[in-house]
Amino acid sequence: MEFKIAVLPGDGIGPEVVAQAVKAVDAVCARFGHKASYRYADVGACAIDRCGDAFPEESFQTCVDSDAVLFGAVGDPKYDNDPLAKVRPEQGLLAMRKKLGLFANLRPVETFSKLVHKSPLKEDLVDGAEFMCIRELTGGMYFGQKGRLDGGDTAYDTNIYHRYEVERIVKLAFEYAQRRRRHLTVVDKANVLESSRLWRQIAQEMAPSYPDVQVDYMYVDNAAMQLIRCPKFFDVMVTENTFGDILTDEASCITGSMGLLASASIGELTSLFEPIHGSYPQAAGKNIANPLATILSAAMMFEYAFALMEEGRAIRDAVARSIEEGFVTEDIAEGGASHSTSEVGDWIAACILKK
Ligand code: IPM
Ligand code: MN
Repeated sequence: MEFKIAVLPGDGIGPEVVAQAVKAVDAVCARFGHKASYRYADVGACAIDRCGDAFPEESFQTCVDSDAVLFGAVGDPKYDNDPLAKVRPEQGLLAMRKKLGLFANLRPVETFSKLVHKSPLKEDLVDGAEFMCIRELTGGMYFGQKGRLDGGDTAYDTNIYHRYEVERIVKLAFEYAQRRRRHLTVVDKANVLESSRLWRQIAQEMAPSYPDVQVDYMYVDNAAMQLIRCPKFFDVMVTENTFGDILTDEASCITGSMGLLASASIGELTSLFEPIHGSYPQAAGKNIANPLATILSAAMMFEYAFALMEEGRAIRDAVARSIEEGFVTEDIAEGGASHSTSEVGDWIAACILKK
């Protein structure tokens, strides 16, 4: 096959980790006889610096004209402590999600036995935990009406959901559950929020169409607790945008390193693949960031965008082997030996080719 891949490295460590994922994609193409071509585009602070827009039209066109988007991270500390900044790097990411119609964000949480001791939780709670968080990505408070009143002294964000938005994401979640362990947890705050009551109502309407799936409904505060009390309870979790943002950060640290979690955002136009971690500006340019989450996002790209499971598996196997053999960056290294971002990327690419 031939793929056109839009590469949007973004800010901070984005370019370094994305470069390693590109090596993995090239290695897969060489091994399986595919051809990938890359078109690079800007998003985030680097785009603002260049043209004043965090997601310029030409970057959007590059994404639309491609078969998949590989994305790094956005964010720059120079914007973080300026609540009055008019443009922010994060707007680029949000615009990209909205314009590409990426309403479903799949964040699989996996644990690696070798690393469970790095988890802040007890090993036996974590070992073997494996679940899929499905976060709604283009609705809710992130995109509802927001603003200031009273000369700036009152502020509001609107948590709005339409039926079609809830139906399409809950449907996707039921279908994932059917292909997995057939257990779906719908997370909401239906005891307080009207939007959550709509979510719960719609999920309850849909449940009879999936009689093979066991559904439970959980308030988000309780879900936050169950995630650390009993992560193995979960199989597929579905929730709205803001809750999903918070719960997936929580879920990611269960595994022992945030540098391991990949994600896929799928929807109406080109699908996008990105690590769930941020731009980690303190590490930018130092060649120390963990590239595994981005490399695993490339595995998801083969699986989800191209339906090439064996190719995805080849990347996953190489990542698993790098962890087993300890050829990893300092954040997950044992003892003294650790390797740079680019060394890990080269090792993984070589490992993919060797088979
Ligand atoms: C994420 C990030 C983004 C979000 C930020 C950078 C806008 O935290 O992808 O989880 O809140 O969605
Ligand atoms: Mn987040």
